[in-house]
Amino acid sequence: MTNTRLLLGALAIALLAAGCGNKAEEGHAADAGHAAQSSSAGMPEGNIAAGEKLATSKMEGTGQACIDCHGKDGAAPVDPSYPVLAGQYQDYIAYTLQMYRDGRRQNVLMASQAKNLTDQQIADLSAYFASRERKLKDLSEAVVN
Ligand code: HEC
Repeated sequence: MTNTRLLLGALAIALLAAGCGNKAEEGHAADAGHAAQSSSAGMPEGNIAAGEKLATSKMEGTGQACIDCHGKDGAAPVDPSYPVLAGQYQDYIAYTLQMYRDGRRQNVLMASQAKNLTDQQIADLSAYFASRERKLKDLSEAVVN
């Protein structure tokens, strides 16, 4: 009995691990319309094309579009203090938008942007920005002397 339980538990873990390794093709999702894969718990699946439409449209309430501040593709912020969104992890974008929406992350500008977003819109927006070419700098090109 106990052994069977253990075996089932191990099997479940193995299956979970296999599922996690199956990451969406980030960076190659430029073909709009393809639904991007997400592991955000409880979030609907994001649609890149819908996200692009939303990101480039003036929102009701604020009269602004995401790209008005974060720049084309979320890759060219209008102010150096505004973050680049292009190529960030989809899960991170979705999670942080949820946090702005419910006030766990506070920023005057972003609170009003996220306030009325639905889970589906958050999923679509994060699928879109995550699919854009990565413009973030990391240490991979750093010269070590
Ligand atoms: C008025 C300018 C403005 C607009 C419009 C705007 N943002 Fe932002 N956004 C900001 C600023 C400034 C920050 C940094 C805030 C902070 O420090 O928490 C930010 C932060 C973010 C972050 C967190 C990034 C990170 O690296 O942690 C995400 C995600 C984001 N915005 C998505 C969006 C989306 C999606 C939209 C459209 C619905 C949008 N933003 C519209 C100014 C804007």
